[in-house]
Amino acid sequence: MKFFIDTAKLDEIRQAKAYGLIDGVTTNPSLMAKEKGDWKAVARAICGEVNGPVSLEVIGTGAEEMVREARELIKLGPNVVIKVPITEPGLAAVRQLTDMGIETNVTLVFSPLQALLAAKAGATYVSPFVGRLDAIGHDGLALVEQILTIFGNYGMSTQVLVASIRHPQHVLQAALMGADVATIPFPVIRELLKHPLTDSGLQTFLNDWSKSHGATKQKSRRAK
Ligand code: E4P
Repeated sequence: MKFFIDTAKLDEIRQAKAYGLIDGVTTNPSLMAKEKGDWKAVARAICGEVNGPVSLEVIGTGAEEMVREARELIKLGPNVVIKVPITEPGLAAVRQLTDMGIETNVTLVFSPLQALLAAKAGATYVSPFVGRLDAIGHDGLALVEQILTIFGNYGMSTQVLVASIRHPQHVLQAALMGADVATIPFPVIRELLKHPLTDSGLQTFLNDWSKSHGATKQKSRRAK
């Protein structure tokens, strides 16, 4: 499973990259709007920081407008993927961009049929938003399962990019289902690592070592 980080914060991207975890980045207009300074410079820096795909989202709502914007966005880095909302103009834009050889990520997907349409339009990725569905009493992961079944039925090559992730269970279940990518906010990436038995186990090892070798005692004497 590929891990993308869902952020426009360079420091988060750098930290997660240092852990060797980052295969790509997803941004959206809300995430970009939180960053200070020229957004193009921010986007360029993100593209330069990672080896994998970086999703940058269009703002326009008409197909031609989206394609025009996409042509500008791809100048920001060789790894730019154009993120397009699942609307009628969005689908038309995805078709055109695909024909131009530009990779796309169809976003704001909340139904399996939306995902099917995106795949038929040629999308490289579809992004089902699991957390936002859960928040209104639906089952976000059930959507992921349905999309995977449909794509599997027809051998569709569009990758399922699980988005709007809120907690480690979303990542675990998506991985068990065989989703291609999870785009994960940095705080959730850190939570994936945590286990109380790891913490207490490490503490016990260090205490036992220190009791028999007195490392802690010596260190604290030296510190005085
Ligand atoms: C995906 O690419 C989106 O940026 C993201 O996951 C949005 O999710 P959220 O705003 O619900 O957290």
